[in-house]
Amino acid sequence: MGDIHEMPMRKCFSHRGMIIRGILPMKDRDRLSDLKKSNYKQMKEYRLGSSKQEIFELLPERKVKKVILGEKPIGILRMGELFYAFDSQCPHRGADLLQANINGLSEIICPLHQYRFDLKTGQVRSGYCSDLPVYPVHLHEEGLTIQIPQ
Ligand code: FES
Repeated sequence: MGDIHEMPMRKCFSHRGMIIRGILPMKDRDRLSDLKKSNYKQMKEYRLGSSKQEIFELLPERKVKKVILGEKPIGILRMGELFYAFDSQCPHRGADLLQANINGLSEIICPLHQYRFDLKTGQVRSGYCSDLPVYPVHLHEEGLTIQIPQ
């Protein structure tokens, strides 16, 4: 689907979905240094498409599309002007989330055992498994960018 552009690598880190880039003020650096090192991941940015219009055409609303970013299969979902990116396999038993349903609470429902996950945070809302990994995604005039840990 569309073109995928690998963006030049930037120094950025993710902590609970918050992307931190560039040089931080000292107090923020101190706060960040208190966080566990395992929370830091270097991110690689990918761009899908080349315009907003192209993205809206590529991603029909409420339909999960799969893209391979690096070597990672990622599910992308559009709900109106909101976009979500997440692992395309369920963290429970690995079912493909391409066939997943979306409910009115912005939850994705796995087609195999109907576990539900919050699309914004990946938190499991029903069922017993780890959270669904979710990734920062942003719509720009030049397309959709998705940041994936390396
Ligand atoms: S594989 Fe998704 S809920 Fe079991």
